[in-house]
Amino acid sequence: MDHTQTVCVVGLGYIGLPTAAILASHGHDVIGVDVNPRHVDEVNEGRVPFIEPDLETVVAGAVARGRLHAQAHMPWADAYIVAVPTPFADTYDVDPRHIKAAAEAIAPQLRGGELIILESTSPPGLTEQMGQYILDARPDLTLEPGEHNTLYLAHCPERVLPGRVMIEIVDNDRIIGGVTDEAAIKARDLYATFCKGELLITDARTAEMAKLVENSYRDVNIAFANELSIISDRLGIDVWELIELANHHPRVNILQPGPGVGGHCIAVDPWFIVAAAPEEAKLVRLAREVNDAKPDFVLEKVMSKAAKFREPVIAALGIAFKADIDDLRESPSKAIVERLAGEVEHAKLLIAEPNVDALPSSLADRPNVELASVEDAIERADIVLVLVDHHEFKTLDRELLAEKIVVDTKGLWR
Ligand SMILES: NC(=O)c1ccc[n+]([C@@H]2O[C@H](COP(=O)([O-])OP(=O)(O)OC[C@H]3O[C@@H](n4cnc5c(N)ncnc54)[C@H](O)[C@@H]3O)[C@@H](O)[C@H]2O)c1
Repeated sequence: MDHTQTVCVVGLGYIGLPTAAILASHGHDVIGVDVNPRHVDEVNEGRVPFIEPDLETVVAGAVARGRLHAQAHMPWADAYIVAVPTPFADTYDVDPRHIKAAAEAIAPQLRGGELIILESTSPPGLTEQMGQYILDARPDLTLEPGEHNTLYLAHCPERVLPGRVMIEIVDNDRIIGGVTDEAAIKARDLYATFCKGELLITDARTAEMAKLVENSYRDVNIAFANELSIISDRLGIDVWELIELANHHPRVNILQPGPGVGGHCIAVDPWFIVAAAPEEAKLVRLAREVNDAKPDFVLEKVMSKAAKFREPVIAALGIAFKADIDDLRESPSKAIVERLAGEVEHAKLLIAEPNVDALPSSLADRPNVELASVEDAIERADIVLVLVDHHEFKTLDRELLAEKIVVDTKGLWR
């Protein structure tokens, strides 16, 4: 693709903004569109509305050079990259309303010849559905290749790791699924302008499924580790030692257990497979259920310890969904703390979360909950509950833990 062409990135969140910034830093003219005015304003000031290492430098540079600009209304562009949320509905099927809204905003701008890429994680068929939303609004356009009014649709799922996005967005291999072969080639040419990883071409449905399968693979393996942790607890075995020993087998690599599975990918994406093939996806469903039930186990553990105190003080270390990030979405740690605060009303909860300045309202509004520094929380606590392996917790002075009851869901201080 010619570098002077315009790319519009729709949705300036954890995925869209790094994508917009990296495209802009590789010579494209990028317009970011977001329905959230805070995201638009912050990007135009060269700032980033969430934590992601090195992203702000690239955003600030691209904005200063006039290569990146954010706005609320949809412009015309040669290529569109859609990175809006794809949450699941009550039925565990995708809720497509953000995709539909994005498609309906893009449709009136189109002239024919544009490339439209869906990066949002999607169940099989959603990219074609997005195309249909556009064609419903613009019956004068077509997906048939080679016409003057052809649209080129592709799905290019994102597999970056929060905290390493600016490295992985360039280095990772990418799956590029075209609704047509021509669309796949156009999408590959766009990604080739900034990706150093291999660009793997397939059809849109296989690309959609590949992303879901990657996260289900992780989910199933974490479910195995979480189930082992519950079995080991019952049998009086240290699960961390158990896994370490078993992993000495040359063909065994068991993952680590934790308080549950969080985030908006591994905890969500497998459900799209279950919704697409409910009779067949037995293991995928069971893994989700095992991981979703792990917070209950942690909660019971803490409540049984707290029952020994008249007014227990509990230090909860971490409420993010994984280490060293500020993202609290779908966080099992946050859910455990919220339930503790509600179900053990006579307890005082001191939350140490070094990545946030304030507690979310679900916790801030509770009289028995307080945000504290990690040292202060531990010093005042009867029970120390480790929920996230943030680097600040790993290096703590162990002397602080003398005389404390420790419930360590991450095996941090073995
Ligand atoms: N965050 C990750 O690590 C990650 C990794 C891989 C895939 N994904 C997938 O990428 C997609 C986006 O995820 P995210 O984490 O960036 O979400 P996000 O919530 O951080 O960002 C989405 C942005 O889209 C905006 N938005 C919503 N509807 C819009 C519309 N109609 N028009 C314009 N903007 C709109 C929101 O205001 C928000 O700023 C999801 O499908 C997610 O599953 C995320």
